[in-house]
Formats: sequence, C-alpha cells, structure tokens
Amino acid sequence: MFQKVDPKALDSNFFSLLADRWALLTVADGEGCNPMTVSWGGTGILWNKPVATVYVRPQRYTYGLMEKEGHFSLCFLPEDRRDAMALCGSRSGRDTDKVKECGLTVESGLATPYFAEAELVLVCRKLYAQDFDPAGFADRAVDEASYPGKDYHRMYIGEIEAVLKK
Ligand SMILES: Cc1cc2nc3c(=O)[nH]c(=O)nc-3n(C[C@H](O)[C@H](O)[C@H](O)COP(=O)(O)O)c2cc1C
Repeated sequence: MFQKVDPKALDSNFFSLLADRWALLTVADGEGCNPMTVSWGGTGILWNKPVATVYVRPQRYTYGLMEKEGHFSLCFLPEDRRDAMALCGSRSGRDTDKVKECGLTVESGLATPYFAEAELVLVCRKLYAQDFDPAGFADRAVDEASYPGKDYHRMYIGEIEAVLKK
C-alpha cells in the first residue's frame, strides 16, 4: 500500500536510485500512458518548491507527450523488475504498448498515471522546459561526448506534488 509522504521526510538516495535502479518517466498518452526508462535526473529545491528534473532527447516518443501534458510521474520499480526497466529503455511507445508488454498496472487516482508495482513514485507538475544550448557548455568535452548527433536534451523541471512510498 502506498503512503503519501512529505519530500523532506524521504531518506531515499536519488543518486543511487537513478544511477543504479533507474526510473520510469511516465506520461499520459490518450487513455493510457507511456513509460520511458531514465537514469539522468535529480531532485532538489527550486523557486521554494520541491522539484524533480528530467532530461528528454527530442527523438523520444516521450518528448511529444511531455510537451503536451502538464504532469509526469517518476516511478521507481523494485530490483526484480529490471526486465521492465530494460524494455522501457529500449523500445518506443510509438510502436509498442510498453505497459502491456511489461504487465504493469496503471493507477489513475492522481493528476497523472503511475504504476502499482512501484516502490516509490514522484508525481510532478511541469513548471519549466528548456533545451540545452551548445553555447552554454563550459566543458566542451561534455558536449562532444554526449551530443555527437546534436540531439540536445530538453530539461523539464516539475514541482513534486506528491510522493508515494510503500
Ligand atoms: C538506463 C537507461 C537510461 C536512460 N535515460 C534516458 C534519459 O535520461 N533521457 C532520455 O531521453 N533517454 C534515456 N534513455 C533512453 C530511452 O529510455 C529509450 O530511448 C526509450 O526507448 C524511449 O522510449 P519512448 O520512445 O517510448 O519515449 C535511457 C535508456 C536506458 C536503458
């Protein structure tokens, strides 16, 4: 059962959660939703609000959904659902119903869909979006290493409206 918790009361380490466990960036898609695996992102405080930041390349199906929708969720699945994380990070919602393929259960009681199988969910309201500007790199090596195709991520900052934890 999920419990709503105050972000300040969380003892989760988002460094290891994102880097080692990954998350599903989940956005409404018509009647359903599309999960995309992410391992780059962060949480913090901005504009006096608890926020989560994610980075989406323009070729992702998720990009169009993020542009259209006002909310997104970050769902952290248990370690034994690594199969689902791998599938959602290698197949596109353009041609695959990833929710069905992974056998995930959509919960729709809040502002945006999330998954019953998650251990931790951040429900976020989009506040800000901006593409990385190549002129902004102080270290050119980062640009060269991450963007040989010039497909700069769009950064989305969302206010964390709810944290659900099991
Ligand atoms: C571990 C892992 C982390 C990823 N992190 C990101 C990310 O932060 N941003 C991004 O745009 N793509 C990331 N990807 C790639 C997308 O998950 C992948 O291209 C996915 O198939 C896109 O799905 P969509 O087309 O349904 O949006 C990651 C993939 C993996 C396996």
